[in-house]
Amino acid sequence: MLISTTAIASLLTPISSFSADYKPSPEIIQAQEEFRDNGFGIFIHWGIYSMLGSGEWVLNDPNIYHDEYKNLASGFYPSRFNAAEWVSAIKNAGAKYLCITTRHHDGFSMFGTKASSYNIVDATPFKRDIIKEIAEECNRQGIRLHLYYSQLDWGRPDYNPIGRTGHEPNRDTSGNWQDYLNFMDAQLTELLTEYGPVGAIWYDGMWDRDELPGGLDPELWNLDRQYALIHKLQPSCLVGSNHHMTPFPGEDIQIFERDKPGENEAGLSGQDVSPLPLETCQTMNNSWGYRIRDNEYKSAEELIQYLVGTAGRDANLLLNVGPRPDGTLPPQALERLAAMGEWMQTYAPTVQGVRGGPVGPQQWGVTTRKGKTMYVHVLDNNADVVFVPYSGNKLLAANEFVGKRKVKCTQTPEGLVLTLPESRDSQPDRVVELTFKNEIPGAEK
Ligand code: GLC
Repeated sequence: MLISTTAIASLLTPISSFSADYKPSPEIIQAQEEFRDNGFGIFIHWGIYSMLGSGEWVLNDPNIYHDEYKNLASGFYPSRFNAAEWVSAIKNAGAKYLCITTRHHDGFSMFGTKASSYNIVDATPFKRDIIKEIAEECNRQGIRLHLYYSQLDWGRPDYNPIGRTGHEPNRDTSGNWQDYLNFMDAQLTELLTEYGPVGAIWYDGMWDRDELPGGLDPELWNLDRQYALIHKLQPSCLVGSNHHMTPFPGEDIQIFERDKPGENEAGLSGQDVSPLPLETCQTMNNSWGYRIRDNEYKSAEELIQYLVGTAGRDANLLLNVGPRPDGTLPPQALERLAAMGEWMQTYAPTVQGVRGGPVGPQQWGVTTRKGKTMYVHVLDNNADVVFVPYSGNKLLAANEFVGKRKVKCTQTPEGLVLTLPESRDSQPDRVVELTFKNEIPGAEK
């Protein structure tokens, strides 16, 4: 038995010192608003696992030996990697930020860390710090950089006791958890001092210990100290964690995996929706890391509707792309980014710089709002008449967002009845712009 409950219990210090009274600083409050305004980001899962073309969890496969996996590093040479091309594709999609895996569960660091030689600069013939190149390019092109950081490690002896993943016969678990915590602090310090401004640290992997008694205790993971370290090193850097729970004190955004807030189809999003800025991460096909056989890409229309759906639920969309081992983005992903960008050229003002509308999602679609303007996003192409259950604010104008043609809209005490202009061809989203006398409030969460 690799895990003993007493081992983990002995790691726990009293919970009392965890600061439940976290108050975001003015810098964080401003960064949260900017994050909300940005609305749309691109996620990148890239590591040496891409060489095996089976996703970023391939090391967890019982048929793959860890000692052998490590040798992938000395063959990793992404000859076609070009940070400028990636960032341009992301920018042209209309996204405002990029979140990239700096170290995933396999434990391989994609940046030139001094805390472990198992990293892209020291362990591969490529020797280039791709996180640095991307950080510089993001700065150049005005894209905000967010950094994914795994708290789970499938290889280090000091990731001890291990959780429910990364089991392998003869796995070395002789190390000390405290050393692992110090290792994470050292890496985060590097990431926050040597790579320019970082918009967010995006944690993942704490859920690995969910079956161990006390395994999810924030004290065990040193969250208090680590979050304080991040905020100290970069006062505007947001902290978010994909732990699938309601946020802990010190977290500045709430993350949902593969589901819009309030939905739970993937089974990871039963937690309450908090008042923090929200973000849903979603795959373009069915994988995060490059998977050679996964061609099940969502269509550009579906992705646009997904983006609109998150905006209508007051959440950002972080849409994933898994680059190939040669450093290129798959053409299917590039096509979709371009198509989304084309749509965004017209519609960005209805999904970016806005907040979720005053009414929750409806059968026909969603609403977003900005000041006294409401955007009614009709996602159901068959809807002719839609009812928006919003009242108590005098309607001044109702127009199609594109072309500004007048739309028939009747205000009743219960809400608004909109008669949509006959649609010529099918569109992912028909947007009607409603102008009211007073500022429009958000929906209750
Ligand atoms: C999960 C997976 C991980 C992926 C992440 C993205 O937690 O473990 O591979 O990086 O989701 O949301």
